[in-house]
Amino acid sequence: MQPCVAVTGANRNIGAHLAARFLDEGFGVVAHYRSETAAIERLAARGARLVRGSFDDAAACTDIAERLAAAAPSLRAIIHNASSFAPTAADIPAAATQFQDFFAVHMLAPYILNTHLAAHLDGTPEAPADIIHITDIYADNPAPAQDLYCATKAGLQNLSLAFAKRYAPRIKVNAIQPGPISFEAWHDENHRSAVLEATPLGRMGSPEAIYAAVRAIMANDYQTGAVIPVDGGRRLGRG
Ligand SMILES: NC(=O)c1ccc[n+]([C@@H]2O[C@H](COP(=O)([O-])OP(=O)(O)OC[C@H]3O[C@@H](n4cnc5c(N)ncnc54)[C@H](OP(=O)(O)O)[C@@H]3O)[C@@H](O)[C@H]2O)c1
Repeated sequence: MQPCVAVTGANRNIGAHLAARFLDEGFGVVAHYRSETAAIERLAARGARLVRGSFDDAAACTDIAERLAAAAPSLRAIIHNASSFAPTAADIPAAATQFQDFFAVHMLAPYILNTHLAAHLDGTPEAPADIIHITDIYADNPAPAQDLYCATKAGLQNLSLAFAKRYAPRIKVNAIQPGPISFEAWHDENHRSAVLEATPLGRMGSPEAIYAAVRAIMANDYQTGAVIPVDGGRRLGRG
């Protein structure tokens, strides 16, 4: 049977690229998405199974997990890519709401999906399956302006280590920390050039660099609990 991979947030950018590349390689894909986009339509036209939903709270995450399991009873890997990113709001009630949203998508959803779907991951001790959490280099070195986003990505990274212990030896659990792969629309020119200036490789990365890291993890049957930066050296700065 064709091995199948689940990708969350597959309707745009890195998630859409990962799902498309898995299809290129002959994997079945279950693409989770929230908003309708041209990218998700293209994935569906290529045979991806779709599961729509927003990771709002435990009930919503559980419902999405059950529909993912129904769409793909046997999984080779789960890629937790869905994410929300914004600077922390200035006033406390707005920041508290952001914190809950970040927690839901970065920590609660991976926790519930992994717990529900572990039995559907088709790994063995000799050929373990994969859970891959996409975190951020800022999980280790938080940006004060985005502290709530960073804190919940750090929480996701910590969950990776706990899940690596819990699911060994049948499932490997690793994290990838992207650096600058794309800018947000609200990033101004000064910010963009400062980021490139502080990145040793001196350019933006590509979604394909993240896919290369995903596939390298999947190809390695003796790697679990690892946290892998794919950042052009951005976490180091230029020194
Ligand atoms: N791009 C970069 O430079 C960069 C840098 C560091 C880390 N990363 C990490 O790499 C991953 C992909 O980044 P990206 O730039 O491709 O992200 P993106 O363009 O912001 O896409 C995020 C995806 O997550 C979905 N999502 C957000 N909140 C959700 C929720 N509550 N419920 C369900 N889905 C939700 C979005 O759905 P909608 O389309 O409906 O909003 C979208 O599909 C993320 O984990 C991100 O943190 C990226």
